[in-house]
Amino acid sequence: MKQPKRYLVTSALPYANGPVHIGHLAGVYVPSDIYVRYLRGRGADVISICGSDEHGVPITIKAKKEGITPQDVVDKYHGIIKDAFRRFGISFDIYSRTSSPTHARTASDFFRKLYDQGDFIEQTTEQYYDPEAQQFLADRYITGTCPRCHSEGAYGDQCEKCGSTLSPTELIDPKSAITGATPVLKSTKHWFLPLDRYESFLREWILREHGSDNGGAHEVWKSNVYGQCKSWLDGGLLPRAVSRDLDWGIPVPVEGAEGKVLYVWFDAPIGYISATKDLFAEKGNPDGWKPYWQDNDTKLVHFIGKDNIVFHCIVFPSMLKAHGDFILPENVPANEFLNLENDKISTSRNWAVWLHEYLDEFPGKEDVLRYVLCANAPETKDNDFTWRDFQARNNNELVAIFGNFVNRALVLTHKYFAGKVPAVGNGGLTDYDRETLDEMPRIKAAIEQNIENYRFREALKEMMNLARLGNKYLADTEPWKVVKSDPDRVTTILNIALQITASLAIASEPFLPFTAEKLRNMLHLEAAQAHWDNIGCATLLAPGHELGEAVLLFEKIDDSVVEAQLRKLEETKAANAAANATAVPAKENTVQFDDFAKMDIRVSRVVAAEPVPKTKKLLKLTVDTGIDTRTIVSGIAEYFTPEEMVGKRVLVLVNLAPRTLKGIESQGMILMAESPTGQLSIVAPLSDEAASPAGSVVG
Ligand code: MF3
Ligand code: ZN
Repeated sequence: MKQPKRYLVTSALPYANGPVHIGHLAGVYVPSDIYVRYLRGRGADVISICGSDEHGVPITIKAKKEGITPQDVVDKYHGIIKDAFRRFGISFDIYSRTSSPTHARTASDFFRKLYDQGDFIEQTTEQYYDPEAQQFLADRYITGTCPRCHSEGAYGDQCEKCGSTLSPTELIDPKSAITGATPVLKSTKHWFLPLDRYESFLREWILREHGSDNGGAHEVWKSNVYGQCKSWLDGGLLPRAVSRDLDWGIPVPVEGAEGKVLYVWFDAPIGYISATKDLFAEKGNPDGWKPYWQDNDTKLVHFIGKDNIVFHCIVFPSMLKAHGDFILPENVPANEFLNLENDKISTSRNWAVWLHEYLDEFPGKEDVLRYVLCANAPETKDNDFTWRDFQARNNNELVAIFGNFVNRALVLTHKYFAGKVPAVGNGGLTDYDRETLDEMPRIKAAIEQNIENYRFREALKEMMNLARLGNKYLADTEPWKVVKSDPDRVTTILNIALQITASLAIASEPFLPFTAEKLRNMLHLEAAQAHWDNIGCATLLAPGHELGEAVLLFEKIDDSVVEAQLRKLEETKAANAAANATAVPAKENTVQFDDFAKMDIRVSRVVAAEPVPKTKKLLKLTVDTGIDTRTIVSGIAEYFTPEEMVGKRVLVLVNLAPRTLKGIESQGMILMAESPTGQLSIVAPLSDEAASPAGSVVG
């Protein structure tokens, strides 16, 4: 593409069924924010679009689980997510939501246009239906035994144990996750987007970029993105249903579609368009969105995670193509996944660093996390976040290089020149001075090259090279020593050092916006001077220009801080292990009598209970089993207080192999029932104490 007139940058709309964590940030939002801040710094016409993805089955499941409405769920998380992004300095021009009226209209009109053009296939198929709940069951609402690995609890679309992709009818012994009833097949009509009709368009559009410098339809895409697209295309495309039987979503806008809504992956990407409309409506320019979506000289870039590639590169472009009024993306820079301490980030296992928690626990350290996530961004392969690395990068890079250089340059200027920028001295520039200054434009070009090619880690390294350059310059020229013998030379040295800090204030802005702002204030750098093109300018700060007060940009992070975070993660692990040991999976499995007879289950009584310190989920219980008094650690603290437990009659599996949780040996397991919505309750004998005293054997 020639120099675009304007940029439209979108970031994947996060599902409003949970908060945002570091995986989302490293994969999507930190890179997209660097990109748009860079473009703004250059004075480009750019808008950055995002919002909450508020439809889809996970949201309805969450609502059922918590006994609230889907609207309650999305209101809660939309607020949390939006606020966390703002506090973290993610500079969206708008953070909208797909439950907005603009979106309902836009998505509905989009569907209707394709429908009227005959772009859908209508098909009646058999789908699972819950006769008790009287509703069709989305894939996630059906569980059963995996036909591949035979483990229980596989979902209608996927087995999380073996990772197989499934269809609901393949499940052995399917059950409705809502009522537990056995679902029946019932016919239902849906609309399908025949992706096969777009195959030749997609082949031409996606695959032509490779090997053609300018002849391609768009920029060269990252190889992970290109590779996934190619394998989808080579596998052959099939029609995809774009409607669902569900009562949460945008109603299918045609006759005879009662009880049916648009599939979330049909409506969500249209959310980018709706959000752009909302943005310009807010500005009082309701048609202002059009050039961004309709002019060919707009560069549209979608930032996403790798699980979204097919939707953004195959499905949405086919929709856009069918519709006809909109441009196609120039690039879709998708990242791989970030792990946490060598383990997959998981919302259900609470294995994550949540942004809103980080912001509360590390006030003023937004840029540290932005820095670490960019330095470790999973650009070409999955990557790992560790708290040790977080500490090391802060202490050895931000503090020791960036902070140290800026601090020296400013403090020395305040000390020797009363805070005024000294002029280059009478001795003029040395060769070394010139070489140093010449490095700056080279670094500037390298940052640009890398950002424009979506290599943000490399770009960040180059930005740090500017700080390194300054740090080395001061270490080599030692103005604090030279000041005694050659004060004229020191005016030159500090002039140069300050010019580098001014460039750093501009170059660091996309990556470390909070730091850049502090630095601009310290240098009294005007907004007009902070234009990107001024990076590398050797005369940005005029002699005599008065500097502001020097403030500390970064501070060391102690071991104790890292250890506290690691303890928090340990606690999560322990709670998960306890929950797994406690929860009795709702399975119907055949067990031989001998196996059952091995289990020694006894009526018992809880005689004491206390929370396990530094955990949220664990209680330490003392139980009288009739044969002895023993300790059991149970992951029920979120459901029962210690007071509630004392005196309760419970059933205990007494011959379970002991295990140690949080340093306490747990000798047995209290039987609990877990309802389909995840609520725990105590399984206790119905008979009274006289009929089944402690020690009575169950079986
Ligand atoms: N909510 C999806 C996810 O988190 C992303 C939706 S992106 C959009 O994976 F384009 F559909 F909006
Ligand atoms: Zn399986």
